[in-house]
Amino acid sequence: MLQPVDKILEKKDLQLDEIKTLLQLKPPSNAILFKKALDVKSKAVGRKVYLRGLIEYSNHCVKNCYYCGIRCNNKLPQRYHLTDIEVIEAAKYAYKNRFASIVIQSGEDSSKRFISTIERLLAEINKLTNGELHITLSLGEQSIDTYRRWYDAGAHRYLLRIETSNPDLYKKLHPRDKLHDYNHRLDTLKTLREVGYQVGTGVMIGLPFQTFDDLAEDLLFFRKIDIDMVGMGPYIEHENTPLFEYRAQLLPLKERLEISLNMVAVLRIMMKNINIAATTAMQTIDPQGRERALLAGANVMMPNLTPAKYRDSYLLYKDKPGVADDAVGSKNAMEQSILLAGETIGYGEWGDSKHYELRIKN
Ligand code: 5AD
Ligand code: SF4
Repeated sequence: MLQPVDKILEKKDLQLDEIKTLLQLKPPSNAILFKKALDVKSKAVGRKVYLRGLIEYSNHCVKNCYYCGIRCNNKLPQRYHLTDIEVIEAAKYAYKNRFASIVIQSGEDSSKRFISTIERLLAEINKLTNGELHITLSLGEQSIDTYRRWYDAGAHRYLLRIETSNPDLYKKLHPRDKLHDYNHRLDTLKTLREVGYQVGTGVMIGLPFQTFDDLAEDLLFFRKIDIDMVGMGPYIEHENTPLFEYRAQLLPLKERLEISLNMVAVLRIMMKNINIAATTAMQTIDPQGRERALLAGANVMMPNLTPAKYRDSYLLYKDKPGVADDAVGSKNAMEQSILLAGETIGYGEWGDSKHYELRIKN
């Protein structure tokens, strides 16, 4: 017999079946889960939201993930990379507006030129901001040497989503070759930690072939690898990708969003002091999606600082919001939404994951 939800929420360590029960809660009954998660968040990390200005540096990518709109076999997006000046301007904007932190994200590229450009930009941004602007990278799988070079140049956090912790599902979402190897991705997460980064990972939610078991295992996986930060969100189909063929199997978008919010809430209860992002994909489904994530336990937001003219080329999935916004529009909208949710903004604060701070002390 299934246990009542309030009993599960009182437990110290959640087990697979209990996690599955929580993940399957539908509105309005998941309100009790969100309430508990918000309570845990308030006590463990407070109700401050930390900002990371997102710079989508380039949509060139050597990979061919079956779900992604900028995969290399999609010939439709115009490929771009920002100029050094554009990156520096975006970083300066973040610094001036006291975001305290930026994320440089891009498709995967391991060319010498790319590696040294990033290294140079890191050094320049650090110099310009007296090392006060924290820099997170989200540039895919790279060698340990590259990770070290970027770390030494001043990047201290790295995001690399595992996408799914189930190796069989991973194979269905990617070409079966060396570039898209589950074990390599897992090893890379370990490498990042070894180098010294504060490490973030995440998954997509509502993928074709994905089960509630998979999702519950994803949360247990985050706990097992002792992750510092998590960004996860609904899978949103893109018509120019191979996975689009399976769209008839997908849950309605609204359900994918509810499950994503349940994932955030359960994770907050399981890993009280990590950083959890309210992701853009949630906002794609519901304009209030990110605020709802904050009230379900998230504590990080990533306003987009990519210059407006490039935004429609960085469409990983359809209807990605903010394509018509400029940095100011995006900042104002986000600020309002955070305050409306009853949270405050951690201006000028790095907002390192408390989990990470404790981990390096020990
Ligand atoms: N729907 C939702 N998220 C996606 N991503 C890529 N394609 C999609 C999609 N169709 C996510 C992946 C990747 C991150 C940068 O964007 O999780 O790691
Ligand atoms: Fe490239 Fe990342 Fe898209 Fe995969 S998900 S194709 S690695 S940008």
